[in-house]
Amino acid sequence: MKTAITELFNIKHPIIQGGMHYVGFAELAGAVSNAGGLGIITGLTQRTPELLAREIARCHDLTDKPFGVNLTFLPSFSAPPYPEYIAAIREGGIKIVETAGRSPEQYMPALKAAGIKVIHKCTSVRHSLKAEQIGCDAVSVDGFECGGHPGEDDMPNMILLPRAAEELKIPFVASGGMADARSLVAALAMGAAGMNMGTRFIATKEAPVHDNVKKALVAASELDTRLVMRAIRNTERVLKNAGVERLLEIEREKGAKLKIEDIHDEVAGVYPKVMIDGDMDAGAWSCGMVVGLIHDIPTVKELVDRIMADAERLIRKRLMGLLGAESRASLEVA
Ligand SMILES: Cc1cc2nc3c(=O)[nH]c(=O)nc-3n(C[C@H](O)[C@H](O)[C@H](O)COP(=O)(O)O)c2cc1C
Repeated sequence: MKTAITELFNIKHPIIQGGMHYVGFAELAGAVSNAGGLGIITGLTQRTPELLAREIARCHDLTDKPFGVNLTFLPSFSAPPYPEYIAAIREGGIKIVETAGRSPEQYMPALKAAGIKVIHKCTSVRHSLKAEQIGCDAVSVDGFECGGHPGEDDMPNMILLPRAAEELKIPFVASGGMADARSLVAALAMGAAGMNMGTRFIATKEAPVHDNVKKALVAASELDTRLVMRAIRNTERVLKNAGVERLLEIEREKGAKLKIEDIHDEVAGVYPKVMIDGDMDAGAWSCGMVVGLIHDIPTVKELVDRIMADAERLIRKRLMGLLGAESRASLEVA
């Protein structure tokens, strides 16, 4: 399938694996790129720019296909040295960066000077337009369904994607709630040039996380995510667990007076406990509503091949089949 996104990133399929803290290591990014999608290493999971350089080198050993690095600009307990991370990305020969969180404006000159294509992930039309205006090459439009930070507008993709299509000139991919061929074809119908998946890629053989995480995703339903940190305008969609229940209880008690320090134990340092140790009750970790559509743990290649084969069937058989014989004949002539 050829779209503006496959052309822009020189990839076979219009499927991107979004950056994921403690999941987006070389193993997953390499597997996604080898399967014809765009794999992304999560920059800040690497504690230093030197470690990121090593992770990039490891990924180059695993694939000769294009892959990217995610740089997330979120409020955190201490700000990372972004210019040094960008230097590691540049020196590692990376040509695609997924930015997320705050605007990447300040870093655009450095990224562009290195010939890097930037896809910014954002949750509103106005932020997408801003990304276009500051020179981003594409956007990942992240609906309210998404795992991670859906922003504060609560706009689902059914509205957000067609609105993005009305306003944007640069290509965009649909992000949030994407799991299979149905997601991809629907996203294309709404004007996207591909899709970005997070949660779905965690439940794959290559995702370098504890088996408990993959099993929890298969077991969970679409009703099992919760929104946390609303009161401090850092909303995150997470999988419910005992730690999250504790966090929600603190949030209920503190109300609008909630401070990040009040929930430190439930949100800080949780990812290694969950992803490495498999402690599923450790606290808040991102997970999308799409978890309700995850029923198996295939290899990345099986997943991507299945999506592309099903998408073709869906378009040719189901959608074309809905047209009358006359319309089909006129399409063939055209
Ligand atoms: C476990 C997990 C960790 C994530 N970490 C990050 C991150 O560090 N930076 C980022 O930009 N997005 C992060 N995301 C968001 C994903 O890149 C992607 O935008 C999101 O998962 C899309 O929604 P979906 O889960 O419904 O596919 C994370 C998502 C998950 C599930």
